[in-house]
Amino acid sequence: MRIRTVTTLPFDDQRPGTSGLRKKVHVFRQPHYLENFVQSIFDCLEDLTGATLVLGGDGRYYNDQAIQVILKMAAANGVGRMLVGRDGLLSTPAASCVIRRHGALGGIILSASHNPAGPEGDFGIKYNVSNGGPAPEKLTERIYARSREIREYRLLEADDVPLDRCGQQRLGEMTVEVIDPVADYAELMESLFDFDRIRELFSGGFRIRYDAMHAVTGPYAREILVRRLGAPEDSVVNATPLPDFGGGHPDPNLTYARALVDALWREDAPDFGAASDGDGDRNMILGRRFFVTPSDSLAVLAANATCAPGYRSGLAGIARSMPTSRAADRVADRLGIPCYETPTGWKFFGNLLDAGRITLCGEESFGTGSNHIREKDGLWAVLFWLNLLAENRRSVADTVRDHWREFGRDYYTRHDYEGIDSEAAQRLMSELRGSLAELAGSAPDGHRIRLADDFRYEDPVDHSISEHQGIRLLFENEARIVYRLSGTGTAGATLRVYIERYEPDPSRHGLDAQQALADYIRLADEIAGIRRHTGRERPDVIT
Ligand code: G1P
Ligand code: ZN
Repeated sequence: MRIRTVTTLPFDDQRPGTSGLRKKVHVFRQPHYLENFVQSIFDCLEDLTGATLVLGGDGRYYNDQAIQVILKMAAANGVGRMLVGRDGLLSTPAASCVIRRHGALGGIILSASHNPAGPEGDFGIKYNVSNGGPAPEKLTERIYARSREIREYRLLEADDVPLDRCGQQRLGEMTVEVIDPVADYAELMESLFDFDRIRELFSGGFRIRYDAMHAVTGPYAREILVRRLGAPEDSVVNATPLPDFGGGHPDPNLTYARALVDALWREDAPDFGAASDGDGDRNMILGRRFFVTPSDSLAVLAANATCAPGYRSGLAGIARSMPTSRAADRVADRLGIPCYETPTGWKFFGNLLDAGRITLCGEESFGTGSNHIREKDGLWAVLFWLNLLAENRRSVADTVRDHWREFGRDYYTRHDYEGIDSEAAQRLMSELRGSLAELAGSAPDGHRIRLADDFRYEDPVDHSISEHQGIRLLFENEARIVYRLSGTGTAGATLRVYIERYEPDPSRHGLDAQQALADYIRLADEIAGIRRHTGRERPDVIT
């Protein structure tokens, strides 16, 4: 076996976004494209020689080929040991768990999360560091800088490594250890939640439908929900990971997980419904005819955290991304613990978790997690809910309504305008930015704006600053509109508009969110000129 040094030229578009480098599959398949980025990662890791790395992905199209390239490059770059999920699979939370448990230097995760897959779909690659979390911006910027000047990469000339069976193999000087992608993760879950209690819940006839959306969580859900917890086999649907996710869009929300939503609205609906995304870090929680907003889910879990053995001793603090509703803040207030407001993206929770300042964190975008790993975690959230319901023996809907009665309800919605013209989107945002001074203190349609700014975050741990993290309009009655552009899309721009208002009065908690927020939805368009700039009459996705 020979190490080959390949001459290459830089690409100029390898700057990682909210969550790694995401591009269309055909972009990744250009000669040298994947290799350049992987070598750029390796070049930025100081202690790579002899180190252990973790490798796996969500099983999407090109996962298998990319893994072989990365293995050969790792071997040529002096990596000592590579832990690879069997069949190249590892959910994002499981990868985070494996990195931590095995003391790895880091890991490479192949995923474009919830974006559609297949030859015409998306692919992605992300580097996680030794705490199991996404590389901080400092490192992703260095990787990007490296990708702009790279001139060569190294590759071992060798046959592909079979990944269908667990065990150790050699690839040049490197050990390749194929591991069960589920085992470490399932054990961790068992240490956090009361499996006996949940087993009792199921044996008492409680019915669940978990939709793996033909993505990576199928094997995890089967092992944990069915095999370890005794839920009936047919509780887990679409459980076989497919390279094109069965042609679907594995994003667990009201639009893309329609089949699950329909099942929960039927006469014979199960008691509980849940889904995860392509790489298993997102979750959607449903009750019978009831949708739990991710913001509420974080707040409910925080308020009831001590029901789960892993959280018995209480919470150190909570964090939520800025556009997430302030329902969690109300719980933190009551518990007398801090609540941090971070920019969008899981990487901003890493420092707070490492410093022990927070225990739970979440985002409105169907992401919830805790200090057990350094990624959001879909199945973890499902198990947390099941543990809670096994304890309180209430329905999902009643659990949330009880919570609203106690803390008030934060009516919340997010409107996404997808694939809009990038320049139009930039114009909309810069016009908004330009009018912030004017907006503050004004009262469009009689709704007075108390604060209008462009969110800026100073990390309380390392004091790094992140600017331009979204335009916030805060009204006097605590209603809020937030505008930001997506950092994960691969075609055109996506405008996200987050709208919410607080309702303390329980007699007014029964409205539909779109109805309850109608005034502010209208205002959001009026103020930013969404229709004028984008030509769109309505959002593509409402969650
Ligand atoms: C989206 C979500 C964000 C999440 C990210 C990765 O990013 O809004 O909360 O962390 O996906 O799952 P965006 O496309 O908005 O930049
Ligand atoms: Zn994801």
